[in-house]
Amino acid sequence: MKFEIELDRLLRENLTETAYKFWEVAKEKVIPTNVWQELASSSKKYHNKEGGFVPTIAEHTCEMLRGAIKCMSMFGITRKTSECDLLIMGVLLHDAFKRGVDGTNRWTAYDHDKLIADTVQDSSAFLRFLSPEQHKILIDVLRFHSGKWSTDADKTFDFSKLHPYVLFVHSLDMLSSRNCLKLIIGDP
Ligand SMILES: [Fe+2]
Repeated sequence: MKFEIELDRLLRENLTETAYKFWEVAKEKVIPTNVWQELASSSKKYHNKEGGFVPTIAEHTCEMLRGAIKCMSMFGITRKTSECDLLIMGVLLHDAFKRGVDGTNRWTAYDHDKLIADTVQDSSAFLRFLSPEQHKILIDVLRFHSGKWSTDADKTFDFSKLHPYVLFVHSLDMLSSRNCLKLIIGDP
């Protein structure tokens, strides 16, 4: 639960008011409530920390969010802007359907990247705080957050054809799964 509280704090402090209000509704109505407490690796083969410990999706997402927020100045992004909303939504939603759209899969839904990307693609609600161009980038970030292993990536998959945020979020995911990111609760 403490990681869900930390997640909320990071969102409250960095999202625009419109995006945060949107998130509150989405969390309630679209995102499976159990997903945050599920393990980041259902098989426990990946995401191993010290002693083989596997974090929850809430902790994994918090780690990535902290990394994204700490480094977003490299893209000239400041907090509480639509560009910040775009980047945060990419990290926040990337594993939201990791146990399927209803959260009932016992194991990782191999196509969770496609499931969340298609859902976001079908939702015009994002246009309340993102431009149509930013919405497209968010869909790509979600669809290809597993890089060349993404469900919709073919043999010609190439990060250079996509927005740099796609590689950034994939890198954060890889770094977190290999225990290379540090989470400090309450760190501004
Ligand atoms: Fe992930």
